[in-house]
Amino acid sequence: MPAIISKAPGKTILFGEHAVVYGFPAIAVPLTAIQTKVSILPRLKNNRSLIRFRNPSWKEDIYFENLKLNNPVRVTVENISKLIESKIPNFEMTVSSSIPISAGLGSSAALAVSISKGFSQFLGIKLSKEEINDLAFKSEIVQHGSPSGIDNSVVTYSRPIYYISGQPMIQIKITKPVHLILADSGKRSLTKDVVKSVREKWENKPNIINQIFEGIGDLVKKAHPAMRNGNIHLIGKLMTQNHSALQRLDVSLPELDHLVNSAILHGASGAKLCGAGKGGYMVAASTLENTESIRDGLLSAGARNIISTKINPT
Ligand code: MEV
Repeated sequence: MPAIISKAPGKTILFGEHAVVYGFPAIAVPLTAIQTKVSILPRLKNNRSLIRFRNPSWKEDIYFENLKLNNPVRVTVENISKLIESKIPNFEMTVSSSIPISAGLGSSAALAVSISKGFSQFLGIKLSKEEINDLAFKSEIVQHGSPSGIDNSVVTYSRPIYYISGQPMIQIKITKPVHLILADSGKRSLTKDVVKSVREKWENKPNIINQIFEGIGDLVKKAHPAMRNGNIHLIGKLMTQNHSALQRLDVSLPELDHLVNSAILHGASGAKLCGAGKGGYMVAASTLENTESIRDGLLSAGARNIISTKINPT
């Protein structure tokens, strides 16, 4: 039997992270230049299921029963087996990913989505995108506590989306390519911890934090038509304003601010941190002709890695 293979992309939130957890809109796009790949085979002659993790920074073989209870592979496989209400056969799963971990680029959502797709196929069940998204969301809840659902949604549908938690997402029709340059600050953070720190601030100073969230919500509403029309200058300007709002939420870092400033200095229309913050990557938007200069500028400013990609017309 040939291996079942499934893949899922990374993501970046272009507008609205954190505020989206509190019911404000956000915009996210898939990053198909980076992805998680899952390959699954039956393990007929062996009575233990084996998971083989193969990432640039980490290689590990571990029996399924030895995975931590909250491990996304374990959570997703167990949720699928609950769904089909039957015992699962032994399997060997290889998980490889080019999505940096704890870097704001959707590695946990891509893992949950690729396993939901691949493992259900391995068991011979055809799940709809909606069902895959629900399974991935359940795994995200175990990983992050109170996720908005934007990460699993953009990764499952692999389309630019305008998202409000609990509402049907809106696919954004892109008319002109938007070039993105993402740079690694070299720092890492856990989404769960950063989301918790924002919640504490919101509980202590609800008026100030709600005002920041409302400001972010207004930016997102302006960004939606700008994305549809491919107005790169407005997209960039709003991204930089979103970064300032995230600084006020205290989720940036000097390293991220420095990269954001360097990108703008070297010709980006705008830039911001991406994901929960306190580490990870930042993202700059640009016209095609400025991408090289931005890339060089970011590397000189200390970026540990660069991902250059574009949002294609849909
Ligand atoms: C994390 O990628 C985005 C956050 O807004 C959390 C969430 O939406 O669940 C920080």
